[in-house]
Amino acid sequence: MKVLTVVGARPNFVKVAPLVKQMEKMGIDFDLVHTGQHYDRELSKDFFDQLEIPDPNIYLGVGSGTHGVQTGKTMMKMEEVLMADSYDIVLVVGDVNSTLAASIAAVKLQIPVGHIEAGYRSFDMQMPEEVNRVLVDRVSQLLFAPTENSVLNLLNEGIDKERTFLVGNIMVETLLKNIHRMERPEVLDDIGDYMVLTLHRAENTDDRNRLLSILKGAGNSDVPVIFPVHPRTKEKLRSHGINGELEKNKNIIYTKPLTYLEFQYLLAHSKCALTDSGGVQEEAMVHKVPCLTLRKNTERMITMQYGANKLVGTDTCLISTEIGRILRGEYKAWPIPPFWDKRVSKRILSCIVDHQELLFVPTSDLITQ
Ligand code: UD1
Repeated sequence: MKVLTVVGARPNFVKVAPLVKQMEKMGIDFDLVHTGQHYDRELSKDFFDQLEIPDPNIYLGVGSGTHGVQTGKTMMKMEEVLMADSYDIVLVVGDVNSTLAASIAAVKLQIPVGHIEAGYRSFDMQMPEEVNRVLVDRVSQLLFAPTENSVLNLLNEGIDKERTFLVGNIMVETLLKNIHRMERPEVLDDIGDYMVLTLHRAENTDDRNRLLSILKGAGNSDVPVIFPVHPRTKEKLRSHGINGELEKNKNIIYTKPLTYLEFQYLLAHSKCALTDSGGVQEEAMVHKVPCLTLRKNTERMITMQYGANKLVGTDTCLISTEIGRILRGEYKAWPIPPFWDKRVSKRILSCIVDHQELLFVPTSDLITQ
């Protein structure tokens, strides 16, 4: 059996790390493709190095662009890769443009797709990631779901139970396997209590008022806010002319994107996480750090159900109020969800090995009528 695994953007690297190690352990033959969606050292190479992911066999060098350009270029290049060898399954992770492009290229060549992190839904089709999630799940043959709720989402969309596997959260496997290696970032020198802020979603960064509203809400707090700035956000702060205002607010300390091990340390020791990212909501939950999500919805429903996360949108007052509540300790502890452990990659690969009869693209529709 030969597997092709595809990564493109920062959150993908974190998810694929335990998977490739487990494939090596189980003696499964695989190639690793990096689409090049994220290419900066800080967003890409540092993650490969720290998480000891082997160098990709194939690098597509797709880079940035509009969604159409990025997805289209990746599909064209992926098709060439897929036609040059014989793969039994293409394994994709998460919900980024590279995930969608690789899945479509594979299924059109009748190569079955396995989707890791299947079934998450925000039910908001204005989010590019939601479009990616729905389409990838629709063309995948094996669906590896992180939570019971994500299994239900898939079944509600008519996807066969036989192809849907509750395996747990692979990003949590990476976290638990690296928790003893976390590295204290320099930015914490001389800092006592603090909060963490991450922000990169277009709906928050591209609208000047919304970005300012979030920064004001965060900056009002009684403790400093450490803000590792994503390249997209850095560019938007500059083009909106917000840099000056940010500098005036001494409560917000902005820094370059951190490495994986530094970011985990930062998050684990913070009083509160403020984020519009998906993965950070879950990482905060595992670190037992309360999270406020700067969006109007989340696909990570479990973080809300367990009381680890609250949606606060972008309103300055609401953000400040909720930060105050958390800093006063007005929240309850929560447990870690089932299967969010160190064996997720093993479950996924065992499913594939044990269900090789499912590794084909059916002639009938994938959805049960
Ligand atoms: C992508 C994912 C998002 C994920 C995020 C993690 C999609 C639709 N979005 O968003 O789900 O949470 O990655 O970071 O796939 N840029 C650089 N250097 C890089 C990469 C990007 O400077 O190495 C800049 C470019 O100006 C680019 C912008 O960031 O235009 C956005 O990059 P892109 O990969 O398109 O989306 P992200 O916002 O990073």
